[in-house]
Order: sequence, then C-alpha cells, then structure tokens
Amino acid sequence: MNDTLEFGLRDKVAIVAGGGAVEKDIGNGRAASILLADAGAKVLVADRDEILAQNTVKMIQDRGGEAISVSGDLTKSDQCKKVVDLAIRSWGRLDILDNNIGVASKLSVVDETEENWDKVMDINLKPMFLMSKYAIPEMIRTGDGGSIVNISSISATRPKGLTTYSASKGAVLSLSQAMAVDHGADGIRVNCILPGPVYTPMVYSQGMTKKRRSQRQNASLINIEGDGWDIGKAVVYLCSNWARYITGHLLVVDGGCSLSAKPRGWFIFIKVSNKIFFLLLNFYLILN
Ligand SMILES: NC(=O)c1ccc[n+]([C@@H]2O[C@H](COP(=O)([O-])OP(=O)(O)OC[C@H]3O[C@@H](n4cnc5c(N)ncnc54)[C@H](O)[C@@H]3O)[C@@H](O)[C@H]2O)c1
Repeated sequence: MNDTLEFGLRDKVAIVAGGGAVEKDIGNGRAASILLADAGAKVLVADRDEILAQNTVKMIQDRGGEAISVSGDLTKSDQCKKVVDLAIRSWGRLDILDNNIGVASKLSVVDETEENWDKVMDINLKPMFLMSKYAIPEMIRTGDGGSIVNISSISATRPKGLTTYSASKGAVLSLSQAMAVDHGADGIRVNCILPGPVYTPMVYSQGMTKKRRSQRQNASLINIEGDGWDIGKAVVYLCSNWARYITGHLLVVDGGCSLSAKPRGWFIFIKVSNKIFFLLLNFYLILN
C-alpha cells in the first residue's frame, strides 16, 4: 500500500450537521458521514430527526466504522452547543465539521411569504453560524487545526426561480470565505461546496417525474445526474490532508450544469405552471 494515498483522517473526529436520511437512502449528509467514517474518522451524526441520524450510524457500524448519533434542532444555540460538547465528551477532540443542513423554497420575492423567507434563512444559515461558533474554539483547543465544509448550491450563483433559497445559499459563500479569513491563522480551513442537481431524498420526496429526472440529467455537460456520494466524496477530499493548501475555496460539484444553458428543472416547471394558471384564470374570467 502507498501511504501517500492515505487521507490523514484516521482517528480524527467529525460532526456532520444534518447527517440523517430516510431508511437506507443516500442524502449528501449521510454520504459524507459514511465516507468520513470509511476514511477512519469517528463521526457524530446530528440531525433534527433522531431515527434518521440513527439509520446513518447503523450503516456506518455495519461497514466497521465508528459513529454515534444525536438529535436536535440545530437552528437553536443550546442544541448546537450540546452537539459539540457530546463530540468532546465522547472522543476528546474535534477536527471536522460538515455543515450540510438546508431546505429548498420555490418562489420569487413577490410570491414568497415573509414567514417562509424567515424560515428558509433560519434553517439554511443559523446552524452553520451556531455550529461553527461552538466547534471552532474546540478545534483550536483540542485538535491540530481543523476543517469546516459548508454546503451551498449552484442556485447561489445560477438562480432559477428558487429565490429565497438562492439568497440563503449566496450568503453561505460569503460566510465560508469570511470564516476562512478569520480562522486561517488558527489552522482552520473553511471551504464551501456548491452542488448541482443531486438525486437525494430531499429532492425526490417533493415529487419527481421521469421527465424532470432526465431534464436534471441532461442539464449536465456530461449527461449524468449527481448523487449524494458525489458530494460526500468532495467533503472527504476537502477535509483531508490532500486539501491542506486549500481554504476559502468555492467548489462547484455539478457535472458542468452551471456552465450549460440547458434548463435543470424547477424553473421550467414554475414557468409552465404559471402559464397554465393564467390560461385557466383567463378562461374562468371569460366564462363569467
Ligand atoms: N439535493 C440537491 O439537489 C442539492 C443541490 C444543491 C444543494 N443541496 C444542499 O445540500 C444539502 C443537503 O441536501 P440533501 O438533499 O442531501 O439533504 P439531506 O438528505 O442531506 O438531508 C438534510 C438533513 O438535514 C436535517 N435537518 C433539516 N433541518 C434541520 C435542523 N434544523 N436541525 C437539524 N437537522 C436538520 C434533515 O432532517 C435531513 O436529514 C442542503 O444544504 C441542500 O441545500 C442539495
């Protein structure tokens, strides 16, 4: 075996925020949790839903890895502190944080409700801020530097009708670079991944047709749809020694979708459904 192919993650301690997924399905957070454990890290899987987090832990243990789960709403400060404290209590150090939590939204500023705006901003940004707030001092105190990966989206730079989501994910880019600047001197690297259309439970639980699926696939320059493993592998790389000279980086993982002008899903769906709505409205007005 060639030791230079070692990722340097053996016995490191990682927290994956939003590391659950239903049954044995593969979301970005679950894939990152499993692959970090495969690379030798001890993984604390944190999720709002305890069962989803436990599923991930079971999958890791079945592969011979070491992991524990914890549940909590990570938009709340005390819950984030609880997660970080548990990692330290369990394994005595903290090296890696994957900030994976995010929810989608589908409307323009005109149609969006103030309530949903607040909710999306809260879920997509607050856990990143709070988990980092408590994790960084422990990385400095207990580890030899650290690595944080924040999950954004290509919707941050290539919007397509998911406006509140795009705005929240845009903030993730600047948050990641600001954190990289603030904590580089502490030996902490902070990078950001911008996934393209990735086939995860969060996506297909909202409804998925064959047509939309092939549209997502065709949006890529190489005509493949991403999956959670693609994002998980990018997380492992960025956390590993192989990326020791990389910080403040915005890594697009999208099969070239953001370079392509081809539609990738919701935008067309929203445009078409708006057109149908106004057509039906016109008929209704004419008939009445
Ligand atoms: N799937 C895609 O196509 C895609 C594309 C671009 C970006 N992303 C981003 O990737 C990330 C992961 O997406 P995914 O589809 O793989 O989801 P996922 O399967 O990794 O699930 C996210 C997990 O976060 C948990 N969660 C949500 N709110 C929480 C909270 N307040 N506290 C604790 N846990 C919470 C959920 O219970 C869920 O288990 C998100 O940030 C998403 O915006 C996904």
